[in-house]
Amino acid sequence: MQAKGTSSRQGSRAGALVLLLITTLYSGFVSAHGRESLEEDSCVRRIGENMVHLSAYQPQYDIGGQYCTEIPKGGDTYLVVDLIDPAIQAYAEKYTSPEDALLSEVSAYTQAHHKEHHMLSGHLQGKFLEMVSWMIRPRRILEIGTFTGYSALCLAKGMAPDGELHTIELREADSARAREFFNASFTGRIISHTGNALELLPVINETWDLVFIDADKVSYIEYFKLVLPRVRQNGFILADNVFFHGQVLEEQAKTKNGKAMKAFSEYISERQDIDKVMITIRDGLYLIRKL
Ligand SMILES: C[S@@+](CC[C@H](N)C(=O)[O-])C[C@H]1O[C@@H](n2cnc3c(N)ncnc32)[C@H](O)[C@@H]1O
Repeated sequence: MQAKGTSSRQGSRAGALVLLLITTLYSGFVSAHGRESLEEDSCVRRIGENMVHLSAYQPQYDIGGQYCTEIPKGGDTYLVVDLIDPAIQAYAEKYTSPEDALLSEVSAYTQAHHKEHHMLSGHLQGKFLEMVSWMIRPRRILEIGTFTGYSALCLAKGMAPDGELHTIELREADSARAREFFNASFTGRIISHTGNALELLPVINETWDLVFIDADKVSYIEYFKLVLPRVRQNGFILADNVFFHGQVLEEQAKTKNGKAMKAFSEYISERQDIDKVMITIRDGLYLIRKL
């Protein structure tokens, strides 16, 4: 079973873990692409004794499509697995309050116009972010990585009446588009910064009740170090993509992002001045409380 001519060199432990995941998620084989058997699915590759399913995450946004888009054209094989069974994802979404009209518009716009639309938090995680925000009723929220504004809009819903959300985006076009969405419902209460978060964070003088880290993975540790001193005691930090499509299960992660997310979680787990829980939602979300 070859996929796009890549070579296979996986550690047996990682392979076994993935096999376990696949056996669990695909028992009775709810086929990932809806119509192909495991043997015929071009996203599935035999690695040693194991069948490994490779896929970009969030297949719920591209149900009919070929969504194993992250398989590299050459070199080493990457582990990119569906972490959540699409059927379970659909079930959970069914029993979650529906997206409001603005969030649906942001999602539809992003899918239609953005090749990286998979980066958007999506319905289930978005609702979770909103709920966390409602639980805390934060006065000051910081988001690192705006993209088209989906998660900022979710987090903003739970703000205290005098609350403000600051969000930082490197790319001008995304920042501008997000601003249009923000103005539709949170005029003046979502403050959008355009530029490199590493440069902007030191000059935003606020004390944060809630922080969402969701920008470039290689800078997560740096973001955390910059932000923690400005988080109030018992304030919270959420960090997205801590599973990085399952690449963190590899003994030696091969992509820079996979390596970065492994290093971030190691770093967080060793710090004694925070309380933490890793949540198995979407691509993995770290929830951290400052002690
Ligand atoms: C995963 S997306 C954010 C998704 C968004 N939070 C959501 O859920 O809809 C990551 C974003 O971070 C931005 N980004 C990457 N590096 C950055 C940096 N150094 N400073 C600010 N933003 C950055 C990217 O341009 C991208 O839009």
